[in-house]
Amino acid sequence: MRVILYVFSGTGNTLKVAGLYKKYLEKSNINEVTDAPDEGASVTVDIYRVSKKSGEMPSPDGYDLVGIGYPIHGFSAPEPAIELCKALPQVENKPTFFFKSSGEGLHLNDGSSQKCLKILTKKGYDVMCERHIVMPYNMIYRHKDEMAKQMWIYAHAMVELHCRELLAGKREKVKRTALWALWVAPIRFLEQKFSHMHGPLFKVHKDKCVNCMRCVNVCPENNIKFEDGKFKFGHDCVLCMGCSFGCPADAISVGVFGLWKVNGSYHVDKLVKDESIPFPYVPNHAKGIYRLYKKYYRECDKRLSDAGLTVQDYI
Ligand SMILES: Cc1cc2nc3c(=O)[nH]c(=O)nc-3n(C[C@H](O)[C@H](O)[C@H](O)COP(=O)(O)O)c2cc1C
Repeated sequence: MRVILYVFSGTGNTLKVAGLYKKYLEKSNINEVTDAPDEGASVTVDIYRVSKKSGEMPSPDGYDLVGIGYPIHGFSAPEPAIELCKALPQVENKPTFFFKSSGEGLHLNDGSSQKCLKILTKKGYDVMCERHIVMPYNMIYRHKDEMAKQMWIYAHAMVELHCRELLAGKREKVKRTALWALWVAPIRFLEQKFSHMHGPLFKVHKDKCVNCMRCVNVCPENNIKFEDGKFKFGHDCVLCMGCSFGCPADAISVGVFGLWKVNGSYHVDKLVKDESIPFPYVPNHAKGIYRLYKKYYRECDKRLSDAGLTVQDYI
């Protein structure tokens, strides 16, 4: 079985989650999961990162399953994920799934795949299900190490469970935005328009910059140019935060989002191994904003226990 994952990822969270899909799909024994008679069947997973810097987009032809991964932006799929769906070719009943990462598990994020679903369904993609994986915020505020550790342990558990479900052909309706939450719908539209207008307000501070050119090299929209000794930010920004989040010198300011800026990767694999960091953090120690995550983790625990699994197996 061959699987292709098309992934847009600004700061690497969704790409990390795609890595988990690759790990657990390739580890699966298809026969065990599906009781299929073809003994020895194996799964291979290819990952294509959506970026204007990536080479030609591979065709889904020749793949048995397609995954589309994206970070939630403004309660929706970001522009590059929608453009990806528009660029994919017509197919015939191609089994497909979405996986999305976001900073919180609130139900306001539920309907984020609807636009992509509409586009792909018209093109013959058979969207079977989606999975929402909560990962440490790349904007708004920096998550505590305790929280980042919990998120990454649960990401492993929830992705492995999803992989088993995918291989068993399980279907689940792609969620819609609840009626009470429809007010979030215009936010995506505004965010897209605004991100382009706002792009040139990003700035590199020369006193801090170490001239590594990482920002120029990672921008998925080729929106950052270094010309005549100066960094220039154009109008193609999609607010992915790849430049400022990963800047090793924290030298990039992000226009009106200054107070929401988060800089520096979360080293999730290291955090998981650090036994001095308590696990689980939610619900045991959760205070303030972290109480909002209780519902998400209750739902994860329920899904895992219904499948006879427990998150403790992933520590
Ligand atoms: C412009 C922007 C908008 C975002 N909007 C949301 C949101 O509506 N809901 C949410 O839970 N997280 C939101 N986030 C957080 C990201 O979805 C989250 O950090 C995600 O894991 C980032 O994935 P990436 O590293 O693959 O880009 C937003 C982040 C950015 C940069």
